[in-house]
Amino acid sequence: MTRLTIRRPDDWHLHLRDGAALAAVLPHTAARFARAIVMPNLTPPVTTTDAAASYRARILAAMPAGARFTPLMTLYLTDRTAPAEIDRARASGIVHGCKLYPAGATTHSDAGVTDIRRLDATLARMADTGLPLQVHGEVTVTDVDVFDREARFIDTVLAPLAERVPNLRIVFEHITTRAAAEFVRDARSGIAATITPQHLLLTRNALFAGGIRPHLYCLPILKTERDRLALIEAAVSGNPRYFLGTDSAPHARHAKESACGCAGIYSAHAGIELYAEAFEAAGALNRLEAFASHFGADYYGLPRNTDSITLVKSPWTPPAGYAFGNDTLVPWRAGEALSWQLEASVAS
Ligand code: NCD
Ligand code: ZN
Ligand code: ZN
Repeated sequence: MTRLTIRRPDDWHLHLRDGAALAAVLPHTAARFARAIVMPNLTPPVTTTDAAASYRARILAAMPAGARFTPLMTLYLTDRTAPAEIDRARASGIVHGCKLYPAGATTHSDAGVTDIRRLDATLARMADTGLPLQVHGEVTVTDVDVFDREARFIDTVLAPLAERVPNLRIVFEHITTRAAAEFVRDARSGIAATITPQHLLLTRNALFAGGIRPHLYCLPILKTERDRLALIEAAVSGNPRYFLGTDSAPHARHAKESACGCAGIYSAHAGIELYAEAFEAAGALNRLEAFASHFGADYYGLPRNTDSITLVKSPWTPPAGYAFGNDTLVPWRAGEALSWQLEASVAS
């Protein structure tokens, strides 16, 4: 196949940042995706519906001319998020979920939740109102091996939570392990997961190929080939519990190429093309549309998009860097050819 037209996709897990960084990255997402679930881990984090509304307005103001893109906002849960905030979020119509960052688990998670049991009333209100919980699923205990933190989170936090609050809708974000793929497959209804392109295409070997590769450092960290194959199997399975979420997470070049580099891979410049590569390698290009354009919308109770995009099999090479405010952003696959290219967004 050399051309692939699919219903316009959405990105169900995205970091857009703010200010000059937002203006730099938004065009990449808006050219490909109709909507995105926008992560709230700004500094300071987006913890209230009012803050989400202001952030949404800044995103809309940064939109390139002619772009059609709808940001779907989220709230950042803290130990003190009250049930009343859930009611405000629900009533706003612009907030589509609340994000659980275990405190210290990832970039800008310091204000996150220290003990999920403090949020029992808030999570119960989310369950009552149908507002999904998005989860960064890793334990933060430093004596747990970094490669085991997701699996440990399932056993000690996620599985008990899913049982304790039986109607809570939960998106297990950016799953990276066979254990996570199997947990989601076998879980009660209302449990879903996003899968990133890097976890479909890479293993931890890539982090050390010829030397340390800071631009491939993200959290949860890349895993083994056994895990990657389980994620591919899940993504191409046609099971609607798994859908697209790039986790594109831009950081300035100096913050990545550092003695203590930040976690996050930038992929929005090729946010659908990379998935096409992964699905093609699995012999499952015909499954891409449902994963990218149907299942997420269905899960979030939003209409599927009505326009389409076309991908063409024609190699192109992402640049060494994109302007990023006064800095540079190094995209994933900088200087390395990609096989699929975005042709055009075609109105229906
Ligand atoms: C994300 C970021 O930079 O905001 N980083 C990452 O490695 N994925 C945070 C996150 O999604 O955990
Ligand atoms: Zn995360
Ligand atoms: Zn993320």
